[in-house]
Amino acid sequence: MTSKVDSSNVASSVKLPAGPGGSLLPTLQLIRNPRLALEGWVRQYGDPFLLRAMNGPVVVTGREDLIRVIHGQDPSIYSPFASSTIVPLMGSGSMLILEGEPHRRERRLMMPMFHGDRMKAYGQTMQQIAIERLEANRGQREILTLNLMTDISLEIIVRSIFGGNDPNLVTQLIQASQKMVASSSPLLFFSRMTHFSFLGLTRWDRWCDAKKHLHRCLEQVIDKRKLSGDLGDDILSLLCSATYEDGQPITREHIYSELMTFLFAGHETTALTLTWAIYHLHRNPAAFLSLLQELDSLEDNAPERLASAPYLKATVQETLRIHPIVTETLRKLKAPLQLGEYHLPVGMAVAPATVLAHYNPATYDDPESFRPERFLERSYSPFEYMPFGGGHRRCIGAAFASYEIAIVLGSLLKRFKFELVDTAPVVPKRRNVTIGPSTAVPLRFLGPR
Ligand code: HEM
Repeated sequence: MTSKVDSSNVASSVKLPAGPGGSLLPTLQLIRNPRLALEGWVRQYGDPFLLRAMNGPVVVTGREDLIRVIHGQDPSIYSPFASSTIVPLMGSGSMLILEGEPHRRERRLMMPMFHGDRMKAYGQTMQQIAIERLEANRGQREILTLNLMTDISLEIIVRSIFGGNDPNLVTQLIQASQKMVASSSPLLFFSRMTHFSFLGLTRWDRWCDAKKHLHRCLEQVIDKRKLSGDLGDDILSLLCSATYEDGQPITREHIYSELMTFLFAGHETTALTLTWAIYHLHRNPAAFLSLLQELDSLEDNAPERLASAPYLKATVQETLRIHPIVTETLRKLKAPLQLGEYHLPVGMAVAPATVLAHYNPATYDDPESFRPERFLERSYSPFEYMPFGGGHRRCIGAAFASYEIAIVLGSLLKRFKFELVDTAPVVPKRRNVTIGPSTAVPLRFLGPR
């Protein structure tokens, strides 16, 4: 799929698409309502268009042919976008920041931990946590779906990474992670200028405090695990015993950065998707009925059985289509790139806009409708459907997340009945790099099914 870029094939003259003027206003528009902003710019300037974002200029596209070109290039022509903003947030060893050979090496090391075969080791725990967490909320008249799903997905990622043998440690890590997420803000991810201290009162100060606390907890856990040599089949054990192709072990600082990345990238994303799935199913009775009929027809509730149920799988896919949690993915050019009729220079970034691709009426019939059937009727190319990004940076947790969402959703809906408290529509709202529902989607608990 990859092709080496030959700079001589790219015309030396720069040719850029048109786009909105200024930098601050378009960045704020993108932060506020990405889909509205992106679709407005496509209408005004065409696809692709040039966005002069605060973190640097970006050529944005939702076109399948151009996304295919972007994802088909040799990874060596790209570096991560705005890494100077992300390094202080995640640490310099995070996969999100690494590039070139170190990035490839890191992914090779991590991939087996998130491979499909490993999912069976996590499935039982995922199901048990979902049911326990809901049971703990049973006495309440109303449940906030987003809070419930955040609790579930945070405990799932913490226990998958660290194992479940030490409940105090699990609680401590959950609390430290919650504090870090609560202290973050979209602006921290969009501009380095927001990384400043003032008497301990700024967002940045709060983020640094929370990060220091989590850092201390993680270092203690890593040291304890390495010293004790007590290795199980959780992700931390696999990291502590992993070696690169040349036999070198992964360093402590590196383990720390990757744990931070997994904790941060691996729980809010799934919680938001689960919340959207609950919302859409309750607003689309036909889809909900089809799902319940499928769940009732299953022989048993085994995690494996749920994860391979076709309509449930299609429901997860449709939820991620209609609400991609990351609306665009960015890469910065280290070599010129010919993108359609445009000649993009070094330093320019390119961004496949997932949200534009997912609402393209030429690909998706009636894209505004929540219709899981569309994923049973036909398949979509990785340049038409890409909730987990694509190319050499495609989400390493994609199989883990899809498995988790199916198991949690299937396990809860098979056992319990709910109804939405609020009939008003819920709309997408920026959280961090992620986009989630504008409310926590209150649910009324109606009892067992
Ligand atoms: C619904 C859940 C999730 C969604 C929608 C999601 C989405 C994404 C997207 C869009 C990217 C960027 C890809 C690109 O730049 O092309 C990404 C990268 C990444 N994700 Fe996920 N993700 C999810 C869950 C997870 C989980 C559960 C984990 C780990 C436990 C995880 C770990 C990562 C990592 C480490 C990267 C960086 C990969 C790299 O740069 O090579 N994600 N994810």
